[in-house]
Amino acid sequence: MRIAVYGATGFTGGLAVAELGRRGISPVLVGRDAERLHKAAVDAGVADAEVRVAGLDDPAALADAFAGCDAVVNAAGPFELWGEPVVRAAIAAGCHYVDTAGEQGYIQRILDTFGPDAERAGVTVVPAMADDGGPGDLIAGLVARELPGVADVLVVDARLPGAASRGTARSMAAVFAAGPLEYVGGRWRPATGDAPAITVPGEDDEVALTPFALPGVVTVPRHVRAGRVRSGIRTEVAQLFGSLTPDVVDSVPEVLDEEARRSTRWLMLVEAADDTGRRTRGWVTGPDAYGLTAVIAVEGVYRLVTGGAPAGARTPAQAFDALDFLDALAPHGVTWEVS
Ligand SMILES: NC(=O)c1ccc[n+]([C@@H]2O[C@H](COP(=O)([O-])OP(=O)(O)OC[C@H]3O[C@@H](n4cnc5c(N)ncnc54)[C@H](OP(=O)(O)O)[C@@H]3O)[C@@H](O)[C@H]2O)c1
Repeated sequence: MRIAVYGATGFTGGLAVAELGRRGISPVLVGRDAERLHKAAVDAGVADAEVRVAGLDDPAALADAFAGCDAVVNAAGPFELWGEPVVRAAIAAGCHYVDTAGEQGYIQRILDTFGPDAERAGVTVVPAMADDGGPGDLIAGLVARELPGVADVLVVDARLPGAASRGTARSMAAVFAAGPLEYVGGRWRPATGDAPAITVPGEDDEVALTPFALPGVVTVPRHVRAGRVRSGIRTEVAQLFGSLTPDVVDSVPEVLDEEARRSTRWLMLVEAADDTGRRTRGWVTGPDAYGLTAVIAVEGVYRLVTGGAPAGARTPAQAFDALDFLDALAPHGVTWEVS
C-alpha cells in the first residue's frame, strides 16, 4: 500500500507520515519543496521514503505526484485556501482521499460538490478526519441509533483551552471570522441564538457554550434525520479564537513539543433529543490532539484502501463503521460512551 501525504512538511502532515511508517505502510511525501520534504521524511523516521514535488498551481503535476498511490492524506491547511486542488488531483489520479480539515465551509463544499466525480473515479473522499470532525460524526451516528425519531442534535467540542499549532490558529481564526452554520428543517443557514449550557463528563459545574462552526453541523444531517443540528465550543475557547489577530497567529509555535502534545486532551460530545423530550448523549475523548488526528486520518485512509467504503464524497460516519472505528482508536487512549 502506498499513501501520499500532501502537506508532509507541516506539523500534522509529519505526524501522519510517522504514523504510516509505524504501520509499515509506504508513505510518499508530496509538497512544494524537495529539501523540506526530505527533512520531513528524516524527522518522521522514514528517511528512505519517496519524495515528489508538486505545487497547488499545477493540477497536472499534482495528479502525477499522486499517480500509483492508493490514497492521499491531505494535511495542508488552511483548507479553505489550499484544499480543493488536492481533492481534485487525488480523484484525477484514482486515489481515495482524506484530510484533517476542521473548517465547516470547506467540508460542506467538498461533500456537496465532489461526490459525482469521486463516484465516476471509483474513489471515496472523506474530509474532516481530525480529532473533532471524525470522532464527532461517528459518535453522533451512534447517539442517533439509540434515539429513533431524533429531532434536535447539539455537537460540542468540549476541550479546555490548550496548546495549538500555528496551522490550527491560522485556520481557526478564519473559521471564527466566517461564523457558524446551523441546520434547520432541511437547510443550512447562518446560526442564530445562543447555545445552551451543558454538563461535561468529569466536571461538576455547567459549561457555558458559544455557537461555533464545527464540522458536525455539515456532516451529521447527511446521515441523521434531525430537524435541527447546532454546534458550539466552550465560551472561553471561543473568546481565544476571537482574539486571533494575524500578529497573534504568527506568535503561535509551528510545532508542539512532546510535553505540549501530551498536555492536550480532546472531547467531542453530542446531545440529542426527540420531540417527546427523550434525550440521549454520547461523548468520545482522547489524548494528544495532533497525534490522534494523524492516527484518525491514517486509520481512515487504511480502511478506504482495504475495506471498500462506497465511492463518492462521504462523511466519516457514512464511510466507516462507527463502533469498529472507535474501537480501533482504543489502544491510543480513546474512550467513548453513549447513554
Ligand atoms: N480539526 C482538527 O482537529 C485538526 C487537527 C490537526 C490539524 N488540523 C488542521 O490541519 C492543517 C495543518 O495544520 P498544521 O498545524 O500541520 O499546519 P502547518 O504545520 O502550518 O502545515 C501546513 C502544511 O501546508 C503546506 N502548505 C501551506 N501553504 C501551502 C501552499 N500554498 N502550497 C502547498 N503547500 C502549502 C505547508 O507546506 P510548506 O512547508 O511548503 O509551507 C505545510 O506542509 C490546519 O488546517 C489545521 O487546522 C485540524
